[in-house]
Amino acid sequence: MHLTDRQDIEIALFVEALRKRHGYDFGQYAPASFKRRVLGLATALHLRSVSELTERVIHDDGFIHAVIERLSVPVSELFREPQTFVALREHVLPQLASYPHINIWQAGCAHGEEAYSMAILLREAGMYERAQIYATDFSDAALAKAQEGIYPSREMPLYLENYRKAGGKARLQDYCTEKYDYLKMHDELRAHITFANHNLVSDGVFGEMHLILCRNVLIYFTDPLQDRVLGLFRDSLVRGGYLCIGIKESLSFSAVAADFQLLSRELPVFRRVAPKAVP
Ligand SMILES: C[S@@+](CC[C@H](N)C(=O)[O-])C[C@H]1O[C@@H](n2cnc3c(N)ncnc32)[C@H](O)[C@@H]1O
Repeated sequence: MHLTDRQDIEIALFVEALRKRHGYDFGQYAPASFKRRVLGLATALHLRSVSELTERVIHDDGFIHAVIERLSVPVSELFREPQTFVALREHVLPQLASYPHINIWQAGCAHGEEAYSMAILLREAGMYERAQIYATDFSDAALAKAQEGIYPSREMPLYLENYRKAGGKARLQDYCTEKYDYLKMHDELRAHITFANHNLVSDGVFGEMHLILCRNVLIYFTDPLQDRVLGLFRDSLVRGGYLCIGIKESLSFSAVAADFQLLSRELPVFRRVAPKAVP
């Protein structure tokens, strides 16, 4: 007989409460890392068990925002995984250069670092004025921080190194103001960024996208959920549009793999191709 661990039962009930009471469905998140985050949340709130967490989720209406903030992992960097930005600069942007308007969806934007990096990349390619970046996340708390574009100065050495490796053409300091212990991204970078709430588990397509970036988000999902989300991306892209995932992520296992062509073996950048005709 298989005995389910008491904690696993409590977590299953917690997931059920989040879904039924607030409409957030974590049922298809990778179980081990999700369990770590739930237990971490209970400990941080000095609760004795996950059941106490469930109780609060059901009865305390304002509590859900803090829960989503803690269960999401809004960790990012300016020009994170810089080699991907080199690929975008050298192989993707030149292909999009002739379009009169360029739609970009950046899913799982955390605190906005990737959206600001993309804005800088587009500016340096002379394409920003024609672009619209839709930067989405399911965490309102993360989106509020993304809108502000304020980051701790202690991260600056890492950001400078990433920007250099990404082939940056100016000085990163030209795009932000450094004050005391933080740096603030310049307002003009935000001019063509729309930050919006979108849940990859339950919300629908964003039509007519030329480029979608969703990096370091799929790793938190089980294969069936990754499959759903990758289908959403395929259906949101124009034919010939590009999809960029994280360097530790893959779509080779997915049903949508046949609809995408890998640009370079070393980098997770794909182009949407016409599906093969069924003989
Ligand atoms: C580790 S961050 C990745 C940030 C950025 N893309 C990068 O690569 O640096 C993962 C983000 O995915 C978001 N996320 C997780 N589940 C989501 C969902 N179902 N819908 C939308 N965003 C989600 C989290 O809130 C978090 O901000």
